Amino acid sequence: GGTVWGCHHPPSTPPLPCLPSLPVLGSLLSLRGDQPLHLRLRELGHRYGPLYALYLGPHYTVVVNSYQHAREVLLQRGKEFAGRPKMVTTELLTRGGKDIAFSDYTPLWKIHRRLVHNSFTLFGEGSKAVEALCCDLQASRGQAVDPGPPLMRAVTNVVCTLVFSSTYQPGDPELTSVMEYNDGIVQTIANGGLVDIYPWLRFFPNQTLTRLRDCINIRDTLLNKKLEEHKVSLSVGEPRDLLDALLQGQTGDKQTRGSGVRGQGSRLEEEGICEDHVLMTAAEAFGAGVETTSTTLLWVLAFLLHHPQVQGRVQRELDEVVGCGRSPNVSDRAHLPYLDSVINEVMRIRPVSPVLIPHIALTTSSIGGHSVRKGTRVLVNMWAIHHDPDHWDTPQDFRPERFLDNEGRRITPSCFMPFGAGPRVCVGESLARLELFLFVSGLLQRFSFSPAPGVSLPDLQGRLGVVLQPLRYILHSDRRTKPQEWPFESQNGPFD
Ligand code: HEM
Repeated sequence: GGTVWGCHHPPSTPPLPCLPSLPVLGSLLSLRGDQPLHLRLRELGHRYGPLYALYLGPHYTVVVNSYQHAREVLLQRGKEFAGRPKMVTTELLTRGGKDIAFSDYTPLWKIHRRLVHNSFTLFGEGSKAVEALCCDLQASRGQAVDPGPPLMRAVTNVVCTLVFSSTYQPGDPELTSVMEYNDGIVQTIANGGLVDIYPWLRFFPNQTLTRLRDCINIRDTLLNKKLEEHKVSLSVGEPRDLLDALLQGQTGDKQTRGSGVRGQGSRLEEEGICEDHVLMTAAEAFGAGVETTSTTLLWVLAFLLHHPQVQGRVQRELDEVVGCGRSPNVSDRAHLPYLDSVINEVMRIRPVSPVLIPHIALTTSSIGGHSVRKGTRVLVNMWAIHHDPDHWDTPQDFRPERFLDNEGRRITPSCFMPFGAGPRVCVGESLARLELFLFVSGLLQRFSFSPAPGVSLPDLQGRLGVVLQPLRYILHSDRRTKPQEWPFESQNGPFD
């Protein structure tokens, strides 16, 4: 039952089809059920049309399920929809939006975002992390393993290098602590959904928020320590890492300003980049960069177990282009189109962030010819777009060739947007793509992955927490080449 056409006070004209809603609860009853949110929102689209509205608690929210409308929201009117909702959990997490992802769209935010973006180009080779991961896997000596923890360690290490120039051996207590608090934050944010929709819950004793506060405290202690160390050792010239780049950007002191931020220091000071921004940005690199990247890698391996012929073809391409005498590097990427198409197809069929991060209209704007009021929330269902039969042949099938033309050259359909698009596109996109390339190429050069004997193949439906992740699975890794022949071992062999 309930009104299908028109909400009580239509915040869009002409009114959008709207899910039934109750005071306080909003449309919660229509969203209940076992299905993850992106599937439920897509299914509701079959009843309400590709563009419809619902209430998340008291918040009027437009749901976008088609490429055409997503293009309007993210690109054509991207600036008008570049706001973010304020949520209890994220306000806690980011000291009131002193990060990138949950900060308002302001001049300061733009400068801040550019600073972060530039500092990511500092991440050059990344091959150390790949070496360490291979040695980590090798240590399992033919046993079936859960690839989750080693991948998580490897990606955490990459972000540690990027943010504060530390790398850790497996088992280092500081690394374990980073992974534990990060996981705690990610998990509580996932469970905290209700707290965000019904903020009055915060006045009740709430385990979720207590756990979140504990993890945030551990995080802040560690990052503060790193920050203080960096302040002492900060010097003129090239920043060593993200903390340096942000500190140099913050001081406004010409003496210590690095090339990445030339000419911007004083403006930053005027407009108020403060120490909280520095810490929150560093924290966000972990929050946004670890779970997403390591989960994408887990999906890659899960699909390769299901499609051994795809794995074989990637390895043939690697053998032809790179061979086994050296590690794959950034410049090989141009010559490995099939490998790229596999990574793309995985991100199409299982986007780890299937409904992006909510956007908010900063001004009165429009979607699909409906005017929408300032403050309207927008959920872009990238899952629905990546599975739209109007844009993709047999969208439920895993077919990397769809990203290649007849001559085997890359094609990128415009409705492929695993990182979002426009002013709020993922700031870590190029870093993430580089990491995915280096890890997948490095792993498949040295290992073949197969299902553990007698164990069923990984479930490919997945589960939606903060990211869409596969259920835990184990796999068997076979060395393709002897570790003695691994290119890096002869050079420095540091991981015994
Ligand atoms: C935002 C995907 C890795 C930092 C986003 C968004 C998506 C996304 C879909 C939201 C876009 C929107 O709301 O319209 C991914 C995927 C990744 C990945 C699929 C890996 C495979 C990373 C990494 C970092 C990062 C490695 C940083 C180290 C961010 C930040 C934002 C963001 C800061 C917020 C941007 C803003 O609000 O302006 N990402 N991401 N991400 N991502 Fe990523």
